[in-house]
Amino acid sequence: MGELIGVHLEKPEKREENSLQSIRRRALATGVFSSSRAAIKERTLRTDRWWLQPAITFGVLIAFIIYATFRAFEKKYYFSEPLISPFYSPCLSTACLDGSAHFGTPIGTITLFGMVISPALFILIFPLGFRLTCYYYRKAYYRSFWMSPPACAVAEPHKKYTGETRAPLILQNGHRWFFYFGLIFNVILTYDAIIAFKNPEGEWGHMSVGTLILLLNATMLWLYSASCHTCRHTIGGRLRNFSKHPLRYKMWTWVSALNERHPVYAWISLIVVALTDFYVRLVASGSITNYYFF
Ligand code: FES
Repeated sequence: MGELIGVHLEKPEKREENSLQSIRRRALATGVFSSSRAAIKERTLRTDRWWLQPAITFGVLIAFIIYATFRAFEKKYYFSEPLISPFYSPCLSTACLDGSAHFGTPIGTITLFGMVISPALFILIFPLGFRLTCYYYRKAYYRSFWMSPPACAVAEPHKKYTGETRAPLILQNGHRWFFYFGLIFNVILTYDAIIAFKNPEGEWGHMSVGTLILLLNATMLWLYSASCHTCRHTIGGRLRNFSKHPLRYKMWTWVSALNERHPVYAWISLIVVALTDFYVRLVASGSITNYYFF
């Protein structure tokens, strides 16, 4: 009838659907393109050095990526009895250096274009995936690498925002699984630190600078994992009330206290992992001697 007299009348459901779509479209337009943003030309009215934090984040992460990539492909200087680099532990390939495969060699040797694949590459996905999908690192690298947004109250350059609702960013939801795998790695690296109480001849009851460094590395990794948001949810989430779960509530308060410092543990553990590898490299390459206290 409406069409007969030249007026297009929409059914109520259709009208609702259209308005939902337009709300969604407006929500997707972000930053300087957002219809809800005040009509100012400046990208931001902030006068402080808002760019400093994302710039430092970018610099540190890039430096770590370059160093870790170099070490993962170097395929040497990662083991010097009893010290093993966290980049190569657990070493599971027959291509591992003598004595470094503490957990056997189930992977054997795999070659690609005639080149033996580095043992580090078989395990890299787990610590890398754990850090890449970390809620804190996501905020850090979305800001510093993608400028999405670079800082609070600074417009981002992107025209659209789809969040983490589709591929590839929807994969970030896998963080909880990387958390569980990360715990296995923490146990292995703690084992490596305990093994470091041996001397190069394999006798127990000794302690060196390397022992302390491996212990520090394992401790920081445990703090990083224990302060993780997934850990907090695993311990205290999915409960209707805490009163019936006093133990979980107690543990949840401890993890919550650690959780407040998660960004600090994220950075310290990242830097300590790199320094631990660097120390093992120096010892394994003969550049320095691993000093023994006793
Ligand atoms: S949130 Fe950072 S490791 Fe889980």
